[in-house]
Amino acid sequence: MSIQTVKTKPFAGQQPGTSGLRKKVSTFQQAAYLENFVQSLFDVLRAQAPSGGDLGAQTLVLGGDGRFHSRGALQTILKIAAANGVGRILVGRGGLLSTPAASVIIRKHQALGGIILSASHNPGGPHGDFGIKYNVANGGPAPASLTDAIYERTKVITAFRLSTAPEVNLAELGEVRMEAMQVKVIDPVADYVELMRSLFDFEAIRRLLAKDFKIVVDAMNAVGGPYAQAVLEKELGAPAGSVIRAEPMPDFGRIHPDPHPMNAVDLVQLMNDSRGPDFGAALDGDADRNMILCRHMVVGPSDSLAILVEHARLIPAYRDGLVGVARSMPTSTAVDRVADALGIPCYETPTGWKYFCNLLDDQRITLCGEESYGTGSNHIREKDGLWAVLFWLNIVAVTGKGVGNIVTQHWRTHGRTFFRRHDYDDLPTATANKLIEDLRFFSQHIAGKKFGSRQLIEAGDFDYTDPVDGSVAAHQGLRFVFDDGARVIFRLSGTSTEGSTLRVYLERCEKNPQRHSMSPDLLLAELLAWADGVAGIRIRTGRKKANVIS
Ligand code: G1P
Ligand code: ZN
Repeated sequence: MSIQTVKTKPFAGQQPGTSGLRKKVSTFQQAAYLENFVQSLFDVLRAQAPSGGDLGAQTLVLGGDGRFHSRGALQTILKIAAANGVGRILVGRGGLLSTPAASVIIRKHQALGGIILSASHNPGGPHGDFGIKYNVANGGPAPASLTDAIYERTKVITAFRLSTAPEVNLAELGEVRMEAMQVKVIDPVADYVELMRSLFDFEAIRRLLAKDFKIVVDAMNAVGGPYAQAVLEKELGAPAGSVIRAEPMPDFGRIHPDPHPMNAVDLVQLMNDSRGPDFGAALDGDADRNMILCRHMVVGPSDSLAILVEHARLIPAYRDGLVGVARSMPTSTAVDRVADALGIPCYETPTGWKYFCNLLDDQRITLCGEESYGTGSNHIREKDGLWAVLFWLNIVAVTGKGVGNIVTQHWRTHGRTFFRRHDYDDLPTATANKLIEDLRFFSQHIAGKKFGSRQLIEAGDFDYTDPVDGSVAAHQGLRFVFDDGARVIFRLSGTSTEGSTLRVYLERCEKNPQRHSMSPDLLLAELLAWADGVAGIRIRTGRKKANVIS
């Protein structure tokens, strides 16, 4: 074993986006591409280390969703970590760790941070995407100040350090040394299951599942499978086979591991059968997202967040109530109405989980979520797909009501917030940027104007000042709010790996229960037409409609 210093040259564009550095597998396959990024990370960590750059007393966590390219990447990262003097590294067996489990393990073992190999819900396989993200000591995504520092370092890097040690067998639990670093292969699910047991009423859920209440959870051939099986089948007694597509595969069985009705077609079909399961859910590639279904219904993610908040006191971990809640800016305002009724604050943050973490650390919020099928709480610093499934099952078990009833009751109490997100994928970046730029300019001149029966009361950039540390995140989307509370939001995705993706978010709240069963597309058609007109989407992009509608 020895440590080599290998000369390298910077790669352009190694800037982490909404959730880490995400690129095509072929980009990551370039010699030194991953090495440069990881060495840049260690350069920054060493520069920040209190003990003169010494990481010898520090623990790191490593794992990911097992997607294509992970095997080699894990070994490379171990060798770079050893060469940079890391004291100890905890790796999930098989290199697997769901994003929420990584957050649990970082927190429980007081690690300095963790490296997670995942491109979340993006497709995998040789032609798919790969990703790497760094989470800090609180278990949450690195703040922008840290990812910016890493990016700056990638621009000037001249060498990386690498141990020549042989590869570590990650298939078995155990411990080995690599240079001075201890590599410990750990059970990827144990700590996570223990935490879930402490949050929810497992006894009540066990009784529910012992009755004639059938559940199906689609793990999408991704890392959530072993977690869902351990909790739902082994701990809670759901029959074997309740978790489908449970085996993690490097190419996710060639499906798109994104919990969306379009990608979980079999599950949706099962739920549409009147003799089908009573409860359904799907997770994404790294198991931090969730989609909840019941017969003939997919619960909208913004509604799901509002409903979890509404019923939180039924859950042992949240029995004493919530200090506050937060949603990302484009997430519908359904949760605001619940927070209002509960008399607790509701924060509006930019898109991306990292913006919730200061609020969680500062105990300003207990629950939070995003419209992109993400919900979570102060139990960790990531969104957590299986946690949301357990939360819903706990509510059903305690209230004795089905998911459909709970949703419609919520609408009757607080109104139904109709919501749609229209994604225009793979646009030329210049076109997308120009659209946003022009819209920004235009927005300065139209506030106060009337459009049909609605008056526009707010228009322009969403800039966020973190109430805890005062950091500012500017240009986080263009937001248009009308006098009846309807909203239209435009932003560009920070996770797409091909061209640019324009996301247009539409919402309006309907108090009248007679309109609650109407089609969201119908009720939002007017706002969509307004959005198209004001941004010139069709004219600029040549697209008649979005590729994906959520
Ligand atoms: C998307 C979602 C966002 C989520 C992120 C990471 O980011 O919209 O809510 O936090 O993935 O899972 P976007 O591509 O919109 O930047
Ligand atoms: Zn994810």
